[in-house]
Amino acid sequence: MNTQILFRSRPTGEPHESNFRVEKHGIPTPLPGEILCRTIYLSLDPYMRVRMYEEETYAPGVDFGDVMVGATIGQIVESHVEGWKDGEFVRGTGGWQNYWISDGSDLRRVDPAIAPLPAWLGVLGMPGLTAWVAVREIGRPAAGETMVVSAAAGAVGSVAGQIGKIAGANVVGIAGSDEKCAWVVGDLGFDACIHYKKEDVDRELSKHCPDGVDVYVENVGGLVGETVYRHLKIGGRVPLVGLIAHYNERKHHSGPGLEPILYRRAVVTGMIVRDHWAKMPEFEAEMCAWLREGRMKHRETIVDGIEEAPRAFIGLFHGQNVGKMVVRVADDPTVG
Ligand SMILES: NC(=O)c1ccc[n+]([C@@H]2O[C@H](COP(=O)([O-])OP(=O)(O)OC[C@H]3O[C@@H](n4cnc5c(N)ncnc54)[C@H](OP(=O)(O)O)[C@@H]3O)[C@@H](O)[C@H]2O)c1
Repeated sequence: MNTQILFRSRPTGEPHESNFRVEKHGIPTPLPGEILCRTIYLSLDPYMRVRMYEEETYAPGVDFGDVMVGATIGQIVESHVEGWKDGEFVRGTGGWQNYWISDGSDLRRVDPAIAPLPAWLGVLGMPGLTAWVAVREIGRPAAGETMVVSAAAGAVGSVAGQIGKIAGANVVGIAGSDEKCAWVVGDLGFDACIHYKKEDVDRELSKHCPDGVDVYVENVGGLVGETVYRHLKIGGRVPLVGLIAHYNERKHHSGPGLEPILYRRAVVTGMIVRDHWAKMPEFEAEMCAWLREGRMKHRETIVDGIEEAPRAFIGLFHGQNVGKMVVRVADDPTVG
């Protein structure tokens, strides 16, 4: 059977499991020019909340009754497209379901010998590319500069901070639990991490960034973001990657205000990863080298079963993931 999770109703505020509906259908049959893929892992990402909006954003919304969108890692079951063979492991856009049909245009081969399959949705996938562009092209921390990263133990933040360390920056994370702070400092090599739910972020930033912040990788917005903006140095750079603290709000938030940007002559650059998709091969080459050399670490929070996807997705807004949030939809044949 193909179990599908469909978009049922628009959330007001935080999403709820009742906003989704489960349907079971037969496994689709691929026609000429089509490939049948079996989903092994499904990526869950904060942007999916934005796709549930009524108003236009940077990408089309999901329609009621449609399968929820999402990146997937799968294995080709039956290919009727030249160049794609049965049994190959691929990353695609299968969405929240066990099987998907592709014409091959959304597929990219993944090699489990380089990294475990879930890593291709995180450190080697869209969040990794996001972090790479945000830090390497927008933030550009120089050796000795100070870079702050919010949602530091998440998929983007954990990679962004490590790229900052590779660049020689002093990296300070901000995260929502003791476990997360211990991971990014102890395992990932961040210089410090502020637990924003229990520490005074303003005071801790003064302590860890006494000369101010050169680069702020903004993943969250809200009070955390506002506070970091006040610590920017003159000419500080802010790759504006995400605003998860606002995704469940019905009214648009005013943000940190323009004063700190004016007073500090800061440069705030909004970035959307889909504009940078063509850089995937260059990114993968550099990231694979860092992984091989042991300079980049990654972690995934894996939830079992497609029907758990709504609960795990909602968990993103409660900090329930360390590293990348992934659903294991089927047994992973690459794991002993
Ligand atoms: N611009 C782009 O193209 C692009 C691409 C990918 C991701 N993004 C954005 O980047 C950000 C991180 O994405 P991700 O995929 O790496 O997710 P993630 O960090 O792996 O997961 C989300 C994390 O956000 C934190 N969080 C949730 N609600 C929060 C709140 N109200 N205030 C502060 N922190 C909160 C939680 O960690 P704590 O426990 O630390 O609170 C949670 O674990 C998101 O805003 C996402 O939309 C943008």
